[in-house]
Formats: sequence, C-alpha cells, structure tokens
Amino acid sequence: MTEQEMLAEIRELREQVRLLQQEVLRAQKLSTVGELASSITHEFNNILTTVINYAKMGVRHQDPPTRDKAFDKILTASQRASKITTGMLSYARQQSERRERMDLTTLIQDVLILVEKDLQRYRIRLETRIEGRPEAEVNSGQIQQVLLNLIVNARQAMPNGGTLTVGLKSSSDNSVAEISVKDTGTGIPADKLQRIFEPFFTTKVADERGQGGTGLGLSLARDVMETHGGRIRVESAIGVGTMFTLKLPLANAKPVQRATTSAAKPAVAR
Ligand SMILES: Nc1ncnc2c1ncn2[C@@H]1O[C@H](COP(=O)(O)OP(=O)(O)OP(=O)(O)O)[C@@H](O)[C@H]1O
Ligand SMILES: [Mg+2]
Repeated sequence: MTEQEMLAEIRELREQVRLLQQEVLRAQKLSTVGELASSITHEFNNILTTVINYAKMGVRHQDPPTRDKAFDKILTASQRASKITTGMLSYARQQSERRERMDLTTLIQDVLILVEKDLQRYRIRLETRIEGRPEAEVNSGQIQQVLLNLIVNARQAMPNGGTLTVGLKSSSDNSVAEISVKDTGTGIPADKLQRIFEPFFTTKVADERGQGGTGLGLSLARDVMETHGGRIRVESAIGVGTMFTLKLPLANAKPVQRATTSAAKPAVAR
C-alpha cells in the first residue's frame, strides 16, 4: 500500500468513526426520551383532566366570572402542554452540528420543563441556583442531551427521593460558564469513579423489562463537552451525593481573544 492509499484509508476510517459517533449520539438521545416518556404521558393526562374539568365548569356555569376563570385555567394548562411538546420535538429533532449563541438559562429551563414531573414522581425536590444570563456558542440540542443525561443519572441515584440542585454561574474571570448538577444520592465509590466516563461502563442492571444502562451517557457527555472546548468534572462522596460540573467557554469571552489576533478588525460581540 502506498502512503497515499494509506492516507486515503485513514481519512475514510475517520469519516466512518464520525458517522458512527453521530449515530450513537442519536440512539442515546432517544433512549433518554424513552426514560422520561412515562412521566410525560402522565403529565399530559393530568393536563387533559384539568382542561376537561374546567371546560365542563365553563359550560355549566355561564356567569362571566366563572367562565373567565375556566378559560384562564384551560389556557394555562394547554400552554404548559404546548411547551412540553415543543421541548420534546426540538430535543428529538436537533441533529445538526450547528452551533449558535445561546442563553444558557433558557437552555437549562427548557430541560427542566421536561424532567419536572419525573422528579416529582420520584419524590425529588428540585432547586435551581441561576446567576446572571451567561451565553455560550453551543449546539443546544447536544448540551441539552448532556444535561438530561446528568439529571436522569441523578434521579436514578436517589431511589428514595432527595434533592437535585441545578446551578449556573460564570467563573470569576468571566471566561467560562459553569453548569452544575448535584444530587443527594448514593455517591460513587472511588474505584468506580475512575471508570464512569468509559464507554459502556455501567452499574445499572437490567430491570424486569430488560432495560439497564448502556453506560454511554457520560462518555457521550464528555465527547460533547470536549468538542465544545469545554470540560466535565465530577465530585462524589458515598452516602452524601454527587456533583457534575460542566464548563463552557462564554460567548462574550471570544471577541477579546480575536481582538488580540486580528488587530485590524475591531472586536464586536458577533
Ligand atoms: N449521579 C450519579 N450518582 C451515582 N452514580 C452515578 C451518577 N452518575 C453516574 N453514575 C455512575 O456512572 C455509571 C455510568 O453512567 P452513564 O450515564 O455513563 O451510564 P448509565 O447511566 O449506566 O447508562 P445510560 O446513561 O445509558 O442509561 C452509572 O452506571 C453509575 O454507576
Ligand atoms: Mg446515564
């Protein structure tokens, strides 16, 4: 084989790896949706019950205050349903590699809408600690997938309930955004902590439906963070809980860097 042929083959193999990685990301994404499907279906049932009951009330009582109240409740409930479906659709659909400047607060809130019910169902209290409105250049579908994975892991680590704390802040020098997902669950023993980012490493055994973990959640999370120029870190204590931290370069940190490399152009916030 000539050097040229070898190079061509390497290129082809690289392309195949890239396609397979995309495929794994897609499959894992659908499995996370599956994990939430039952809670989301329940939530829809609850919303429908609210809508039906207030519609009946509005039909029964024709006086304006009662009807106004009924319409108001129906509107709020259906808007919530619409938010959930929009979130699900955009989550499942986003396949592109495209990055755009995103407000991370909104990105996190969109994920929390999807998991809210699931957490309640497992008696997990949700706390948020959001500071400021940091923005980053991201593929929002991928970052949401990472967050959803971390939250589902956290929930699974708290079989008897607990508290999930989701945080967002900027680093003190304003160069990176830090998203944290903290649980009060089982914690991870030191010997396992070394391995959790390995593909296919899982401690979750198959349940009666044959559904265990694939062990891909964290390995994909690490890939996604690295392609974003970011990092993922973990701290854990047995019986106390676990905290994952995602670091992403802030969007407004960029023009400063560019300005130093191209002096001719003024630094503009994209
Ligand atoms: N918050 C957490 N608390 C305790 N253990 C955790 C936590 N997050 C991850 N782990 C451990 O790390 C392992 C790997 O996690 P990862 O998300 O990669 O795979 P998984 O959750 O087992 O499978 P999948 O994500 O495909 O459902 C888990 O099996 C679990 O042992
Ligand atoms: Mg997982």
